[in-house]
Amino acid sequence: SQNVYILGIESSCDDTAAAVLYNGTVLSNVVATQKIHEQYGGVVPELASRAHQQNIVPVIDQALKQAGISKSQLSAIAFTKGPGLMGSLLVGTSFAKSLALALDIPLIDIDHMQAHILAHFIEEENYTKPTFPFLAMTISGGHTQIVRVTDHFQMEVIGQTLDDAVGEAFDKSAKTLGLPYPGGPLIDKYAKSGNPKAFQFTKPKVNGLNFSFSGLKTNVLYFIQKQVKENPNFIKENLEDICASLQYTIINILMDGLKKASKETGIKSIAIGGGVSANSGIRKALKDGEQKYGWTTFIPKFEYTTDNAAMIGIVGYLKFLNNEFTDMSVVAKARTKF
Ligand code: KG4
Ligand code: ZN
Repeated sequence: SQNVYILGIESSCDDTAAAVLYNGTVLSNVVATQKIHEQYGGVVPELASRAHQQNIVPVIDQALKQAGISKSQLSAIAFTKGPGLMGSLLVGTSFAKSLALALDIPLIDIDHMQAHILAHFIEEENYTKPTFPFLAMTISGGHTQIVRVTDHFQMEVIGQTLDDAVGEAFDKSAKTLGLPYPGGPLIDKYAKSGNPKAFQFTKPKVNGLNFSFSGLKTNVLYFIQKQVKENPNFIKENLEDICASLQYTIINILMDGLKKASKETGIKSIAIGGGVSANSGIRKALKDGEQKYGWTTFIPKFEYTTDNAAMIGIVGYLKFLNNEFTDMSVVAKARTKF
């Protein structure tokens, strides 16, 4: 058997990340989260590119150092080609190309959304990988998809959001509540001590296996504006209940989609991935699906939910085994299709 060391590089949005994997196990997984966006209530693309430029060398150095290997031991470099912010993607793509050229080793391009799904194939003790076919729900700040996965690289999107991503529903509602970006984790935190039935928010009507979250965002905005007009302390006095009720609605929307998809496809193996899969409520709801619907569920470790490079590294490893390399003419793509 061979010794394969993959360096994974991720720079699609506002996290600069690098990881080293040895035969599919994670030796290091370094993420530099850009704090600069907090004050703007969302990611500012221009600032993200600049921060990637500053972070990329130290982050990669640290990943190699923590893995205890030198650059010369690397077998290949895997990087995120898209989807994402163009300026952010360019930093990782150009750096990956240059390093592969300098070290004279293969380059492997990775689809970010595919990586959120294939993160489940990272070699981990006490983690059972999904068996094919399975359904993957990828829920993040930029995407909301249900994907039928028939093999590592055979995937079909069978449902997706028609407007906002679920992470945006969390983050924009959090902004309405005066919480800093990204608000998703904070809503999760406050929801824990709130009453999920305290307030009612609307669930959208959509066709097929698709999702919609822009109506909910507006619903929350108008509701809060109206309440604050009557009582300026409304948010402060009800923050836990608002968060719990909002999270409850979002989880119901996601679970409805999954139930429908499972029924239509007859597939009962269900995985989640992407930043929102860090949410404690969705993790619990999915786990409960084992009892309720006879599902087998796959929930990633926290460090593999939000953007990270270990997930890029594992896809790199799988492609390496297939001899799927890319040449130097590869370019970053803001939108991708798989
Ligand atoms: O996958 P990710 O790190 O970046 C994208 O590819 O978009 O996802 C980021 C999203 C943000 O919207 C963030 O608020 C959300 O994931 N998120 C959460 C939680 N942790 C991260 N949303 C709800 N609950 C959480 N615990
Ligand atoms: Zn992501």
